[in-house]
Amino acid sequence: MSGPEYIWDRQLVLVTGKGGVGKTTVAAALARAAQRAGRRVLLGEVTPDAKERSTLLELFGQPRPKGEAPVPLEDGLHGVRLTPSAGHRLFLRAALKVGMVADAAMRSAALNRFLMAAPAFPEIGTLYQLVFLLRSDRWDHIIVDLPATGHALGLVSLPRTVLRVVPVGMIGDAIREGLDAMTNPERGGAVVVTLPEDMPVTESLELAGGLSALSVPLRGMVLNQMPRQAFTAPQLSAVAAHLDGRDGSEPLLLGSREFRRLQRALRARERFRAEAGADVARTEVDLMDGSPSELVEQLAEVFSGPPVMASGGTA
Ligand SMILES: Nc1ncnc2c1ncn2[C@@H]1O[C@H](COP(=O)(O)OP(=O)(O)OP(=O)(O)O)[C@@H](O)[C@H]1O
Ligand SMILES: [Mg+2]
Repeated sequence: MSGPEYIWDRQLVLVTGKGGVGKTTVAAALARAAQRAGRRVLLGEVTPDAKERSTLLELFGQPRPKGEAPVPLEDGLHGVRLTPSAGHRLFLRAALKVGMVADAAMRSAALNRFLMAAPAFPEIGTLYQLVFLLRSDRWDHIIVDLPATGHALGLVSLPRTVLRVVPVGMIGDAIREGLDAMTNPERGGAVVVTLPEDMPVTESLELAGGLSALSVPLRGMVLNQMPRQAFTAPQLSAVAAHLDGRDGSEPLLLGSREFRRLQRALRARERFRAEAGADVARTEVDLMDGSPSELVEQLAEVFSGPPVMASGGTA
C-alpha cells in the first residue's frame, strides 16, 4: 500500500481561488509543510511588477526582496516574485546570450510598453520565468501563489493561444515546457482555495471545472476559514427553530447573526463536500486566531497530514 499523498507533492503546485479566500496563506503553508518534510522548496508569487510589497514574502519577513532572483527565506525555503518583466529579461538574455544588451533593452520604456501591450505578453513573461526556474534542479517543489481567479486561467490558456501562432523556436519550446509542467499529472497541478459561503463555493467549483477543461490536474480543494462550532445537530435545529419562530416583539437572541453565519457556513460546507467530486482531495481548515505568519504555521500543520477525500476516508 502506498503512503498518503500530500497535495503539495508535485514539482509545480499552483494555488488559486478568488480574492481574499486565503491563497497566499495556503501557498505559504503548503511550502512550509513541504519544507518540514525535508524538501527544497521555492515559493513564488505572481505579481504584475516587483515594485509593490509582496504579501507572500512578507510572511517570511521579506516584503521587498532585492533583485529578481530567488532569495533564501529559511533553510530549504526560497522565495521569488514571478513578474512579466523578469521573464522577458530572462528571455532576452537567453535569446541574445549577452546580459548587458538585455538589461539595456529592458530599461527602454518604449520596449517595455510594447511587450506589455500585446495581450499574452505578460503571461508569457511570467511563464518564461517559471520555466527558467523549473529547469533548475535547486528545488523539489515550486509552489506558486496565483492572483485571483481570472488570471489563473490566463496563465494556462493564453500560452496555448500563443503556441498556435508561435509553435517553434525558443518561445514555443518554453511554452510547451511550461504547459507540460502545469498539465502533466506526474509533474504539477492546482490547489483551489475557497470559503464556506454560497457564492465562493459555487465559484470555486466553476474554477475547478475551468482548470479541468484546460487539462490542469486538480491536486485538491481547500475550504478555508470554517467557523468552529460546539453545537450538536439537535441543538443546531433547536436554536434555528427558535430564531425562525421568533415574532418581532421578542428580543434578538444574543449572537443570532453569528448563528446565521454559522448556518450558512455549514450549508456551504455540505455543498462543498457533496459537489467537489469523489476523486478530489479535500482539506477543511478552521477559522483560526493569530498573526498572518502564525496562521501559516497552523495551516502547515494541517497540510502535513493527508487530505480528506470526498468519500470521507483519507487519501
Ligand atoms: N484559516 C484562517 N483563519 C483565520 N484567518 C485566515 C485564515 N486563512 C487566511 N486568513 C486571513 O485572511 C486574510 C486573507 O488571506 P490571504 O491574504 O491569504 O488571502 P488571499 O486569497 O491571498 O487574498 P488576495 O486575493 O488579496 O491575495 C489574511 O489576513 C489571512 O491572515
Ligand atoms: Mg494573496
